[in-house]
Amino acid sequence: MSENMRDDIERVFFTEEEIAEKVNALGAQISADYAGKNPLFVGVLKGCFMFMADLMRAVTIPCALDFMAVSSYKGRSSTGEVSIQKDLSQNIEGRHIIMIEDILDSGVTLNYLLKYLNMRNPASITIATLMDKPTGRKVDLQAKYSCFEVPNEFVVGYGLDYNGTYRNLPYIGVLKPEIYKD
Ligand code: IMP
Ligand code: MG
Repeated sequence: MSENMRDDIERVFFTEEEIAEKVNALGAQISADYAGKNPLFVGVLKGCFMFMADLMRAVTIPCALDFMAVSSYKGRSSTGEVSIQKDLSQNIEGRHIIMIEDILDSGVTLNYLLKYLNMRNPASITIATLMDKPTGRKVDLQAKYSCFEVPNEFVVGYGLDYNGTYRNLPYIGVLKPEIYKD
């Protein structure tokens, strides 16, 4: 790992400007679609934090937020088992829920969360993801909102990590091959 994380990036996939443009457009779209519905944004920690902060600032309607934390990943691969580390802190019965994810890959994590939250009778649940890796999908799940489609490569930055690092990069890219050790 270099002292300047940016030296570990092999290629930038999406620049700060490209991300801002997509996220602002999504905020406007959600504001139109959910007018009068006071939606609850549910962020899936930790990867969602930067996307969620920017997205919610682009939303102009009244809304609320909450977070969940789950674990299923180690290094670059999913363990396939989802466990809930932090649950919601409020009742969601009758609420319109928008799940906020950094990246939808196998879909295992969100599929599990959707089933879990549906048992609490929300009015609706949709998914808003920053990125979608459709080729990685293992379950039948689609995001209603997605900013970018990405190929089956492991990306970091703008909230996404590799073994805990690189979340604070302001753009999204792939690391040099020598950095990936698993
Ligand atoms: P899945 O859809 O259950 O496979 O898992 C999605 C979660 O895996 C995301 O929320 C990320 O935390 C993590 N993840 C999947 N692909 C990547 C990637 O390319 N970079 C960083 N994290 C990833
Ligand atoms: Mg995540």
